[in-house]
Amino acid sequence: MPTLLAAKPVLDAHHPRLKKRVEAVTKLRGRPPKLSVILVGDDPASQIYVSQKGKRAIELGMQHETILMPATSTPQEVRSKVASLNQDPSVDGILIQRPLPRDFREEELVYWVNPRKDVDAFHPENTGRMILGLPSFAPCTPSGVMKLLEHYGVELSGRIACVVGRSSIVGKPMAHLLLQADATVLHTHSKTRDLASITRQADLLIVAAGKPGLIGKEHIKPGAIVIDVGVHRLKDGKVVGDVNFDEVQAIVSAITPVPGGVGPMTILQLMENTVISAETMET
Ligand code: GUN
Repeated sequence: MPTLLAAKPVLDAHHPRLKKRVEAVTKLRGRPPKLSVILVGDDPASQIYVSQKGKRAIELGMQHETILMPATSTPQEVRSKVASLNQDPSVDGILIQRPLPRDFREEELVYWVNPRKDVDAFHPENTGRMILGLPSFAPCTPSGVMKLLEHYGVELSGRIACVVGRSSIVGKPMAHLLLQADATVLHTHSKTRDLASITRQADLLIVAAGKPGLIGKEHIKPGAIVIDVGVHRLKDGKVVGDVNFDEVQAIVSAITPVPGGVGPMTILQLMENTVISAETMET
């Protein structure tokens, strides 16, 4: 059996430390760190994610609010809500939950949240700072994956890491963080030819393709470590990732479970980004 790279032990190690930081910054500021989440519409998966974020914030002693806006909200209406949160000194972190209705344009949206409160790290200023190695928020899922790898002692320097997927939220920043950690990075995507011939070179395979079961045993180098970022609910209610877990488990040395692997790490990083924001906010 491979090592299961579950989030639970990582959370157990990080939560007490994060709680202490929450207590310290609450004393310093006279109020707990606060995360404001804007949820537009009634996408059921987004509702679940947002409620998980709220629960975790409360557990850590933080404040949390979800601002529900109808699916018919215009971009102007949402933008003006974000603008008021940008101005609100009691708010440390702002997150606009994706996906949004179709008439919201990602290339405009990323500028709305003040980069100082951009705990998602989607603002181009944070993206640029991250690429330049300057202090910045880092996107939650890739940073959460880095925390998971660190906790389990996965060596990255000089090893071949392959990222499957090139989204702005996961694939691109993931490849960058691995590069910063001195891995040799192969970056594949939907137009890559003969995907398996490339993924099979990887000591560490990180899959964020958004396609259930895309990765099978033919894609894996024996003994590789596999991180599955995908989350899909099948018609029968089963939750699966982008990796065919049952098929690859005999040949990998370690693999994340879905659920219970990367998902909770994303939330941990979001909480930490909100605490960092409160710690560094000018008064
Ligand atoms: N939807 C799925 N993942 C994310 C995320 O990391 N941030 C936001 N804002 N929405 C998401």
